Formats: sequence, structure tokens, C-alpha cells
Amino acid sequence: MKTDRQLKELWNKFFTKHGFKKIPGYSIIPENDPTVLFTTAGMHPLVPYLLGEKHPYGEKIYDVQRCIRTNDIDEVGDNSHLTLFEMLGNWTLGTCDKKEMIKLSFEFLTSPEYLNIPVERLAVTVFAGDEVAPRDDEAFNAWKECGMKEIFFLPKENNWWALGGGVGPCGPDTEMFYDTGKPKCCETCSPACDCGKYLEIWNDVFMQYLVKNAGEKAEKLPRPNIDTGMGLERTVAVLNGAKSVYDSGCLKRVIDFIAQYAGVGYEESEKATRFYRIITDHLRSSVFILGDERGVTPSNVGQGYILRRFIRRAINCARNIKFDCKHFAEIADIYVDEYGQDYEDIASKREFIKEELGKEVEKFSKAIEEGHKEFEKVIAGIEKHKEFAAKNGQTVENKLGGKAVFRLYDTFGFPFELTKELALERGYEVDENEFQERFKEHQEKSRQASAGMFKGGLADDSKQSAYLHTATHLLLAGLQKKYGKDVKQRGSNITPERLRFDFNLDHKMTKEEIEEIENFVNDAIAKEIPVVCKTMTVEEAKAEGAEGIFTNKYGSEVKVYTIEGVSKEICGGPHAENTKDLHHFKIVKEESSSSGIRRIKAILD
Ligand code: ALA
Repeated sequence: MKTDRQLKELWNKFFTKHGFKKIPGYSIIPENDPTVLFTTAGMHPLVPYLLGEKHPYGEKIYDVQRCIRTNDIDEVGDNSHLTLFEMLGNWTLGTCDKKEMIKLSFEFLTSPEYLNIPVERLAVTVFAGDEVAPRDDEAFNAWKECGMKEIFFLPKENNWWALGGGVGPCGPDTEMFYDTGKPKCCETCSPACDCGKYLEIWNDVFMQYLVKNAGEKAEKLPRPNIDTGMGLERTVAVLNGAKSVYDSGCLKRVIDFIAQYAGVGYEESEKATRFYRIITDHLRSSVFILGDERGVTPSNVGQGYILRRFIRRAINCARNIKFDCKHFAEIADIYVDEYGQDYEDIASKREFIKEELGKEVEKFSKAIEEGHKEFEKVIAGIEKHKEFAAKNGQTVENKLGGKAVFRLYDTFGFPFELTKELALERGYEVDENEFQERFKEHQEKSRQASAGMFKGGLADDSKQSAYLHTATHLLLAGLQKKYGKDVKQRGSNITPERLRFDFNLDHKMTKEEIEEIENFVNDAIAKEIPVVCKTMTVEEAKAEGAEGIFTNKYGSEVKVYTIEGVSKEICGGPHAENTKDLHHFKIVKEESSSSGIRRIKAILD
């Protein structure tokens, strides 16, 4: 029997012995990377080093990295998929000695001192070659020399690794599989099929290439690297002979906990098993997101939306197995006890995690029953329509219209994906295009209602609004100075009379704090600083440390407004020419806007 912790220790021992240095893992939410919402692999935060920058720990490093991948979310609940997993990674920077890495991999997998997996239980795949890179005979020969018996050559779809989006360092890989011993599903059965015979546990990527821009062909990297990643949960499951990743270690403890209280047993039906596992997986991911130092809370955008989806889907699954969501807090405790040992931020945010989970449960639990009723009504409506149409020799598609799906989203808080899933279970599709149209329409309306600051201007272009807009930049700078850079704009609305500004902060501001912020802004006004606008690329703006939401494409140009020594923000304008135009700034109200979000109303007088 091996636990997660024992596997981590073996990993540490092995790579330390072979001269690798341990680096700390990174946050699960990537810093300054607008292209992805979560860290998806151990190599993700290391891209600059894979491109040649010197790593402070040297050229041989390893770690344990928490990762979230949502692309397989529909598979979650089968035997091997999870949205969150820990990746045991190691890197050799600047050289790519395949033979050496394959020897190390073989030793770790098979040596009695380490994983002790019989070679008969292993299979590997190697890149078959194409117009960009040749067949990887070097890797093949290295495996042969080690005594590996089952080696498969597979094409790019299977044996080439690149970051999602395809841009960045990449290359052929060799993947290692555990052979579960199930019979071959067909004559050509290989690790490429998903029949469940082979389970991938480790991947050595030979990062010899680079794709500079989307759609371009890979070119050779002047300094190649090796990037490897082992899936911790899968490997532990294999070592324990467990039938799935959910049936060993901490995940199993959560499954057992749910079983104590649920009205339906874990293995009562295939569906029930899936519901148990989705709750187990999604709550773990939620604990990791909420427990991350970056402080994401459920919302309708970005990481906050994914978090909301996880929690609401878990609530729906709990409903299906008659499991009371009040126990989510105890599940969070199990996870914090386990992972708080490795991740300090998770340990220190136990109460915050439980509180936020509780709030989201409360919000959605109120709406979910009504939402289900509404859903049933919609289905009944379509069925009726179908009956009627059939009498007239016509047919009606099994499809939920975008209007109904949007109503479930907007009024009952059903994430689109949840409605889609519920519909699929009943043999219905959903009209995604129509939903998106309604969604955009709705966004447009609320954007217009909130002065359209991100559309490159204010709803009205009066001088007074422009001055208030500049005051908003000064206000954010003041808040960040006082509470730290993690304070971000969460909403803004300006009329000629006042500004309204939403931002994340975990407490009500005191009278003194409000005064301090007012003084900061009034000081900047008194200093009579010019407001300077410069156009630059997103990369340049980032490099200059500009505040803003980096959703623009690489290379595209943005306007950056600088108030020297005080503020620098990406923004469409318009603004005052000089801070002195603002005259005097006063906060007239500070209140809660939603959970963890404060709202300030301020005027210039
Ligand atoms: N980056 C490689 C992976 O995620 C190791 O599989």
C-alpha cells in the first residue's frame, strides 16, 4: 500500500539522489498569463526557462505541481479522470539526453527501492515521425536497452506534447503506461485506445522544438530540454491495485465520507458512482481554487466561473444521491487536512474556503429546486409540441432553445454546462449558439448600463466624466498601495455626477481607512501631475507593469494612461489632462457589493 505522501517522498529521494534540486510548486492560477485560467502542467510556469532563461536552482530541477485541466471535465467520474491533479515533474534544462532520462524513468518505475512495477505490467509509446520531426529511434533504442518489452510507435496526435493553444516549447514525447492486465480490445489494441487496458502514468517530453506563433510550424529550439510529468493520483491508484483514482488515498476517504450520509450507495448504479466521484473531484478542485493565495471566489467570469460550475455541479450531483450539501464543509476539512500539509495557502485559508463554499451552496440550493421544475416544464413543453407535430406528420428536434437555457442561467443560476448535461441525460441537445447570442445581448445591456468603460470610452463624454475616470485610476492606485496589488477592479460605473467602483477586499473599510484613501487621491491632485497617454503593445504594457485586464491578443496595441509615480493603467480613456483638473476627491459611500467585493461611491467637489 502506498499513499500520496509516500510517492512524493520517493520522488524527492530519487531525483535528489540523481542530482536534481527541488523547486517550490507554483500557484494554481498562473501569474500574468491571460491565455489560460489555470496552471495545467508542471512545465507551465517554467516556460521562460525552457526558452533559455537561467533558472536560479540550476539546470536539473524537480517539483510537485498542483494542476487543473477542464478539457476532460466530461470524463470526470470514470476510472482515471480528474479536474485537479498533482503532477510530479522534473526538468533538464539546456540539454536533451533521451537515453539518460529513459534510464532514470525505467529505474524509478521498476526498481524495488522505488515503484517496483514489474516490467510486464508496463508499456511505452514513442513518436512515429512526421514532416517536422523524424521517428524517435533514439528513444526506442533507449527503452529496448532497458529491457522494456511493449513499445509502440504512435503519431503526432498521441506522442507530441505542446501547451494548450499549441504555442511555446514542444516536442515528441515518450509516454509510460500501466497495463491493467485486461485483455486486448482488438487486434490493434494499443495505448492509443481508450478501452481501459492501458493507463498513462508518466510522460517524458523531449522539448526540442518551438512554435512561436499560433499556426506556425515548429522550429528547432537552440537549447532543448526534457520536461517530464507523472500523474500522482493515477500512479498511486496503480500501486495500490485500486480500480480507479477515486478508490485509494484521500479521494477514497471522501467517497467513504459521502457514503455515510447519502441516500444512495456508491456502487448502487453506474450513475451513482459517477455522482459520488464528481462531488469528490469538484469539491477538491474548489478547495484548491479557493485555497489559492490569489483569492478567487465564485463569480460569472474567468476562474470564478469555473469555480462556480464546479460547486454547482457538485450540488446537483449531491441532489441526485440524496446527500445533504451541509456536509460539504466537512469534505473541505478532509481536503484541507491532507493538502494543507503541502500547500501553506490552503492550510491558512480553511475558514475562508468553508465560508465561500457555504455561501455558494446557500445561493444555489435556493434556486436549484425551482430551476429543476422549470427545466421539467420546458421538456414537457417540447414533448407536447412533438406530439402535436407528429399528428400533422411533422417532426420537432430534441433541442432546448437558447431562450430557455438562458433563463435557467439568468434566473435560476444554472451554469450553461449544467443545463447541457441535464438535457443530454434526457436525450436532448441545447441550442448553444442561441444561448450565446442571448448571453451577449444581456452582457451588452449591462455594459451599457455600467457606462461601458472597457469599450474604450465613457457612456457620455462630458469633461466631468473624464475627470471622474481619472479619479477612478487614482482610487485604484490608492487601494493597491494600502491593501496590496491583489486588489483589483471588479466593476466601474461613471456618470457626470459620481463614480462607482467595485473591488475585492475582505472587510468593511474603517473611517480612518477611507480618509487615508481620500488623502492619497487628493495628494495626487495637489501635485498637479500630467496624465499621459501612450499606445503600445500588450507585451510592452505588461513589461511596464501596467494595471489592466490583459485579454487582448499578443501583439495588439493598447492605450496606457500614466500618472507618473502614482498610476499606470491600460484603458480606453478619455481622461483629464492633469490631476489638478479634479479639484477635490471625496468618498461618499463604502458598502458591500457582493461577497468579498466592496463598492465605493465618490464625487469631485
Ligand atoms: N508537460 C508534460 C505533461 O503535461 C510532462 O504531460
